[in-house]
Amino acid sequence: MKRKDFLSRTAIGGSFLLVSPWYFSSCSSSGDDDDMNPDNNGDVMIDLSDSKYSALGDIGGFAYVGDIIVIRTGTSQFTALSKICTHQQCTVGYDPGTNELPCPCHQSRFNINGGVLNGPASSPLTKFTVTQNGNILNIS
Ligand code: FES
Repeated sequence: MKRKDFLSRTAIGGSFLLVSPWYFSSCSSSGDDDDMNPDNNGDVMIDLSDSKYSALGDIGGFAYVGDIIVIRTGTSQFTALSKICTHQQCTVGYDPGTNELPCPCHQSRFNINGGVLNGPASSPLTKFTVTQNGNILNIS
């Protein structure tokens, strides 16, 4: 191999090595999805002892886990619904005083089972099944 060929190939390979850390790190995820720990069935599990979910320690407390709103409705009762309003995809909240999920964008309201109480939304929020095993909630 001539010196000129060696330098040319080294420059190309070196450029890839300099760029590759950016290329590979750009595939990582961030945001709410990091909160989700789907098991092999695609279910989402959350650990109530994690400080991120401290709001779920009180009845009426709620937390967002990915695209899901999880609400503590009783001592050992939880409800999980899609947090995405079916009207125009704003994020719904939860009002423990009325036990309703209001949407801040156009004032749709949903009941604790996801049903529409007040439009303009016309479709219910998706409801998920929640099971508890100690501090672990499984949402499916
Ligand atoms: S996006 Fe929720 S009411 Fe319009």
